[in-house]
Amino acid sequence: MRFFFLLVFLLPLFLHSQNIEIVPAPARVEIKEGFFNYSKGLGIKMDEADEESTAIMSRFANQLFTTKRFKVPPVTNAENKIVLQLLSPNSNSSNDESYRIRISPDSVLIQSHSHRGLSYGCQSVVQLFINSPLTNQIVAAEINDFPQYKWRGMELDVCRHFFSKEIVKQYIDILAQLKMNVFHWHLTDDQGWRIEIKKYPKLTEVGAWRIEKDGRKYGGFYSQEDIKEIVLYATERYVTIVPELELPGHSSAAIAAYPELSCIPNEAKTIPNTWGIKKDIYCPSDFSFQFMRDVLDEVCKLFPGKFIHLGGDEAPKAAWKESSVAQDLIKKEHLKNEEELQHYFLKKMEDYLATKNKRAIGWGEIVKGGLSDSVVVMSWLSKHAGVKATEHGNQAIMTPRLFCYFDYPQRITDKRGAWYMTNLSLRKVYHFNPNAKSLSPEKQKLILGGQANVWTEHIANEKELRHQIMPRLAAMSEALWSKHEQKSFQNFKRRAKSISRD
Ligand code: ACM
Repeated sequence: MRFFFLLVFLLPLFLHSQNIEIVPAPARVEIKEGFFNYSKGLGIKMDEADEESTAIMSRFANQLFTTKRFKVPPVTNAENKIVLQLLSPNSNSSNDESYRIRISPDSVLIQSHSHRGLSYGCQSVVQLFINSPLTNQIVAAEINDFPQYKWRGMELDVCRHFFSKEIVKQYIDILAQLKMNVFHWHLTDDQGWRIEIKKYPKLTEVGAWRIEKDGRKYGGFYSQEDIKEIVLYATERYVTIVPELELPGHSSAAIAAYPELSCIPNEAKTIPNTWGIKKDIYCPSDFSFQFMRDVLDEVCKLFPGKFIHLGGDEAPKAAWKESSVAQDLIKKEHLKNEEELQHYFLKKMEDYLATKNKRAIGWGEIVKGGLSDSVVVMSWLSKHAGVKATEHGNQAIMTPRLFCYFDYPQRITDKRGAWYMTNLSLRKVYHFNPNAKSLSPEKQKLILGGQANVWTEHIANEKELRHQIMPRLAAMSEALWSKHEQKSFQNFKRRAKSISRD
């Protein structure tokens, strides 16, 4: 009987030591006999290295050094080594993000058919070393891993509060560690325009700076050189940046710089120092269309990714109702109303992006005025707009605010936030599922994935930002990467401890 109790108490400890401590949880794990022991040191080796895989290897060695103080020199000998192996491209594989790790007593082998997969394998191995409860060893195992969703995104609003180039890079680091693959960079809004556009210098000379209620000048922006540096940084870490240039609403900062963009004449144009939805939006005029085309010319050159986000949310139409420019265009184009006019505006820009081999994304509200075939809908108020989009045959990304808005407080006791924010617990994020049960399996395939958003009206600095995202981002990464049928919140919480400590 005593033995039985001992077993009951000791078994979980034993199992714990055998656990594979990776976030997001891998698709398949098989624990094997024995341990990889590195008490005598650790070396690293690349089979058939090309330039890109050599870069992956040196970042990996650096990461092991900075997180564990491991020196991981390149080796040729057979002992205590980590081997990275890029396999020949697999034409049968539908998932170019997959990887395999084989841990045996004398080596750790990381294999993938793609550089991206190889890099993800390295991220998993870093976590295994950090989290192993054993001294100088990790348990032998085979891990076969691949994500459930293609789009695993995280947004950052740098307009309401500005975050420096260094903080943006740290943000990208955290995304990369959790195998998130999209950084949605919200670069323009009412309270600040944050990207240098050479053809319109006042966008940043004027539009990047607001006067706060206490008289302080507040703002900042990224030069095109900064943007290039950040894009390269993200690309090296297999994170694609999707820039967002809001239209037609959330555009007071641009209008303050170039008042010709507005339909409301003779009104002092200032950059608001208050939050909320503003009535002054881009006028659907030739000037505005040309302005947006010029901005997109420069933006498309800076960002190599396929997608450009064009906003489309929270655009009140009162100014258009009273504008002869807007009303004349509605008549000329035989449009029903201002919502269709917004669709006309967006479609014009979407077609322009198509000439540059780019695709547009818009917030859920864009379904109101009619959808073009190629636009991707980002559903934020709920999943409803995303479902409507897929019914129409469009792709969608789910980011319903009650599950995905990381500016909302984590705990009831958190003071930061606003009246419209409900509590968003770690558990709730963990159980987020981008799928909509009402959709047929065919339509569900149109849901690319999901993302978390961080609006920064109430997040003023790096410390507050970190508090809002961790550990919820770890839960989001698992919601988007791991199989829903295999998930366990208790198990996740234990694994996430080391992530949130980081
Ligand atoms: C949004 O939160 N207005 C997209």
